[in-house]
Amino acid sequence: MNVLRPLQSAVGAQRAVSSAASVSSPASGSALSLADLAAASVAAAPRIRPYVRRTPLEDSPWLSGAGNCRAWLKLESEQVTGSFKARGAVNKLLSLSKAQLATGLVTCSTGNHALAFVHAARAAGGPGVLERALVYLPKTASPVKVDKLRARGAELALHGDDCLDAELEAQRVAVERGLVYVSPYNDYEIMAGQGTVSVEILEQLQEEEQRRAADIKQLPADENAAELVVYVPVGGGGLIGGMAAVLKTALGARVRVVGCQPAASDVMRQSVAAGRIVEAASGDTLSDATAGGVEEGAVTLGPCIDGVDEWVCVSEQEIADAVLSVLRAHSKLVEGAAGCAVAAFWRQRRQLAGKRAVVLCCGGNISVEALKTVLERGRVLSADAEVDRAAEEQSVNG
Ligand SMILES: Cc1ncc(COP(=O)(O)O)c(C=O)c1O
Repeated sequence: MNVLRPLQSAVGAQRAVSSAASVSSPASGSALSLADLAAASVAAAPRIRPYVRRTPLEDSPWLSGAGNCRAWLKLESEQVTGSFKARGAVNKLLSLSKAQLATGLVTCSTGNHALAFVHAARAAGGPGVLERALVYLPKTASPVKVDKLRARGAELALHGDDCLDAELEAQRVAVERGLVYVSPYNDYEIMAGQGTVSVEILEQLQEEEQRRAADIKQLPADENAAELVVYVPVGGGGLIGGMAAVLKTALGARVRVVGCQPAASDVMRQSVAAGRIVEAASGDTLSDATAGGVEEGAVTLGPCIDGVDEWVCVSEQEIADAVLSVLRAHSKLVEGAAGCAVAAFWRQRRQLAGKRAVVLCCGGNISVEALKTVLERGRVLSADAEVDRAAEEQSVNG
């Protein structure tokens, strides 16, 4: 059975509806269905392939053992620029007309999206696009990030004291000068690009089944037999929106999509609960890449409401434990956002027996300061350590 078939039909259906054939930006109004968005991701996958990596779907004996399930880490931490963000940025730039690219682009980000945008402008934009691009950052952005972006040839504009100030100024300048504003998440082309992570996961799981069947000399098992649970970190919702659209269109009720956020900053979870984007305070978190508010009217809200089955919010201790444990079990360095997904899996591990689980390690750009915190405060997540900890707690409690 081909798990990608429903996706291929979604593409066919989308082509038949000409108005949906090119996914629209928020300004154009109409909301896309999950099937439309999935079709856009399937179309984006071959288009962005020359500019991004097919990242490993790494078998995790550690998590498989803990959950009595089959678990994998999807290592977008090994993507070009160190996060999945390159997928969306490349897809967005490839969707722009020559005239738009010639006029100039503006974006705003303090981290992964800015790196991805610069990569996309250089690799997929064409000659001179990076020279005509402007990246807004708050004046408070870390000097390390500023230097990293400058070294890659980006023209930077420092404005305001936080991301929202910088974002509003970037949007104002875009309107004033007639430039294209490239949002980090509030854009269907960005979401469709991020959704290619799911297209790749489905292909890789199918290859995995075929390999297993060849090993045991049997026909491939029905790869849909075991429920699939996918843990995805969430900030503005572009990643999970695109990913959930593809997974739900391909597998329907046989997939559970779990949105993972730090408890210190869970604006999208609160927004989904309220049915509208809410303003909510955000605290400091090791998951800096997912922290902060969500733009009013963001097109990511609909896909998050329709495509996410469950939300898990994790503590700073759980994130530190998760990042440290991935390092120990896989010798891979992931950032705090990825730690949210690993921590959510760990919390739910006793509900996963007999299932398949994919944990999205969305990025690897951890700062030296955050890594220091992880090494100082993190605890190793393993069944043995749990026994040790229980014994320790018992002796402390007398
Ligand atoms: C590493 C990483 N993970 C997760 C996210 C969240 O993605 P989204 O804002 O599309 O929900 C981001 C956003 O910048 C990120 O950089």
